[in-house]
Amino acid sequence: MMMLDKLIAACGGKENIRRILRVEESVVFELVNSEKLTAEAEEWSFSSSLSQLSWHPDEPLTEQEWHRIGQVIESNQHKLISDILLPARSAFRPKWHHAPQQGLINDPNGFIFHQGEYHLFYGLDPLIPGDKNRYWVHYTSTDLVNWHEKPVALYPSDWFDCHGVYSGHAISTEKELVLFYTGNVRVGEDRDRMTTQCIATSTDGIHFTKSGPVIKELPPGVTPHCRDPKVVRNGDHWLMLLGAQKENPDGKLQGRLAMYRSDDLYNWSYVGLSGDKMGDFGYMWECPDLYQVDGQLISNFCPQGIPSESEFHNIPHHCGYAQATLDENDQLSLEGFKELDHGFDFYAPQTAAAADGRRLLIGWMGMPDEIDQPSLQDNWMHQLTCIRELHWKNGRLYQNPARELQAMRGDQHQVEFTGPVMKQVVDVASKSFELHTRFSWPETGAVTLRLMDNGKYYCDFILDADNQRILLDRSRTLPSDGELVREILWENGQDVELQVLADSSSLEIFINDGEYVLSARVFTPEDATNIQLISEQPYCWQPLTYWLLT
Ligand code: FRU
Repeated sequence: MMMLDKLIAACGGKENIRRILRVEESVVFELVNSEKLTAEAEEWSFSSSLSQLSWHPDEPLTEQEWHRIGQVIESNQHKLISDILLPARSAFRPKWHHAPQQGLINDPNGFIFHQGEYHLFYGLDPLIPGDKNRYWVHYTSTDLVNWHEKPVALYPSDWFDCHGVYSGHAISTEKELVLFYTGNVRVGEDRDRMTTQCIATSTDGIHFTKSGPVIKELPPGVTPHCRDPKVVRNGDHWLMLLGAQKENPDGKLQGRLAMYRSDDLYNWSYVGLSGDKMGDFGYMWECPDLYQVDGQLISNFCPQGIPSESEFHNIPHHCGYAQATLDENDQLSLEGFKELDHGFDFYAPQTAAAADGRRLLIGWMGMPDEIDQPSLQDNWMHQLTCIRELHWKNGRLYQNPARELQAMRGDQHQVEFTGPVMKQVVDVASKSFELHTRFSWPETGAVTLRLMDNGKYYCDFILDADNQRILLDRSRTLPSDGELVREILWENGQDVELQVLADSSSLEIFINDGEYVLSARVFTPEDATNIQLISEQPYCWQPLTYWLLT
């Protein structure tokens, strides 16, 4: 028997191998159940705390042998995922947003229009409680409304991504769909992090072949928190941007973007770090993007640990954009930073060019580390935002729901109100709807739009005239991780025009043609289908127009 087969047998068989690590030339098998180790395993060293068997072969394994072990693990993971990705009823599950059947989802990945179809991937941790071993699940669509599930695109099955296929983007070439992602690996008792930037390709847009790391080393002075590749064209070559954490000689950590260049997508040389003009701006930047919209170059990224603009926002995570310039020498400079979304739950967005050239965006409607939520009872967590289209106007980004989403609208309902009154109730009979209305700014006091309400549980959108701000208050929703209030300062008394997209356990609120957006997970019971309009003074309500969304 070949040595490798002997080892697999000693581990208790193929099904008992959870993970493979390559620590220098040592081969480390992590087992599902250490009790299945056979007596033959005694000749190798075994760590019971890590459930890992280590073998230092006389001859290093060939790439084919490493690949073979990866295939064994992929087939175990395929079985695991096929057993659990079955539809299960959940009152909180959105009707039309992307959400998992089971498990936890996070960042959208590889969003791209390729050979006549949109492709969208996102990170899935199939087990709850999970171990952050992200898989990339895969959906395609021709209209941005109807999405078709494809086989899982990437499993965390190989030595270079065995603790998670982390986030990244895609490139469409004439022949292939090319995925770039971060391979995340944790080694030893201290779980030392190792990150490489990896590539996988597909000729049919469905089945992907991994080619492993194309960037194996970290940039100088950068910690292993270096991830989330975005690849763009600059003239005659490619650039890769990575979210990075720079460690200064005094030990201080600073978020930056690391830049590489390549002529062929496989061989990359390091260019440098970008973002110095932003100064001290958080300890880590994640999930960069770089794109043109209406003639403006923009870079989105997620800085952690920046000062908050609001007393209500006290978590370290933020997500926003800066105006960017990129010269022919690949010097990227970033200036100014604005939050992309003023709600609770918006992170790690990706953009893609639509077939007609519009710039589309989709984000994760969830936040890192916030995992205790009512949907946990049904074994799933988080959803993605709706697809939005972006515009650059008046020196800032505007976001609107992609116009394609109008195809989901059922019959139009119009509710008119007479006379100034203090309270109105409308039962929309669903928690998945689109609502449009307009408010004149009140002179004093508060005017409230109460959403997803059953009398006991609800979420309030409040025009707080006395404090010149708009509030989103979810303190009367079912208990859940996450903060309870968000605000937008509203100092000019301007009218507030609203477009609300609701979907079972989420709200996305677009204000004044998308100048501001608030995204939120909002858990209320299934019967919370009322909308209330509440004012402290008699108030003239403008008509409400709504559609149920299916
Ligand atoms: C952002 C993030 C990324 C990383 C991914 C792992 O939510 O932390 O930086 O690639 O999640 O799932």
